[in-house]
Amino acid sequence: MKYSAIVLAAGSGKRMHAGLPKQYMDLCGKPLIYYALAAFEESPVDEIVLVVNPGHIDYCQREIVERFGFHKVDRIIEGGSERSESVRNGIEAAQGDYVLIHDGARPFLSQEVIGRMMDAVQKYRAAIAAVPEKNTIKEGDSDHWVTSTLDRSRLWEIQTPQAFDRQLISEAYQRLLSEDPDCSMASLTDDAMVVEEGGRMPDGSHPRIQLIQGDYFNIKITTPEDLVFGKAILKQAKGK
Ligand code: C5P
Repeated sequence: MKYSAIVLAAGSGKRMHAGLPKQYMDLCGKPLIYYALAAFEESPVDEIVLVVNPGHIDYCQREIVERFGFHKVDRIIEGGSERSESVRNGIEAAQGDYVLIHDGARPFLSQEVIGRMMDAVQKYRAAIAAVPEKNTIKEGDSDHWVTSTLDRSRLWEIQTPQAFDRQLISEAYQRLLSEDPDCSMASLTDDAMVVEEGGRMPDGSHPRIQLIQGDYFNIKITTPEDLVFGKAILKQAKGK
């Protein structure tokens, strides 16, 4: 069985308020995207598909893949305007039986989490990394009045990798788009939603998604304050 990692780096990074797209920003001497690629390069996955902004393919080939010697990066392809479109392009380019879809903006992906996801996807066909929610989460209305408090013991914060049987998620995308060609890709904020809504098991039933223990260090770098946490995590890892 072959595994493909799909590393997403086609976002605009607007919330970072920096001139340079955030995936190429410096984090302790390396571009942010280096870390997720290095984790998969070191892991047992068979190939890496890197999804980047249109126009960045040559730059990434030279400045990221060749510069750091990422031999498993088989293909660098263009993403779309929404994350789910980038994922779809990645799935079409991947050749593995299983795909591990990962945000390039999550640099602290451990070998333990990759290993757990590889085992889980063989067993369940659809599995997502997650950590138990530590905060109290409330729902509010448009005027900011609290409408309910959710039961924290049942809540999980979803991370990536999200891992799927490639055929299952590829068919799920096709079904969603054929049933509703105008289906808003923007509403699909997470890959599991595509499989929950459009996926079918061989017997026609809806697939179930297994939550797999992620890692609280596996944060996504989104806004400038995340860089502060990111540097602290790297410093702590170096001190080990
Ligand atoms: O926007 P958000 O922080 O949720 O993006 C998560 C990941 O998806 C980032 O690594 C980003 O580069 C990627 N992405 C993408 N294509 C898009 C939007 C986001 O590959 N159109």
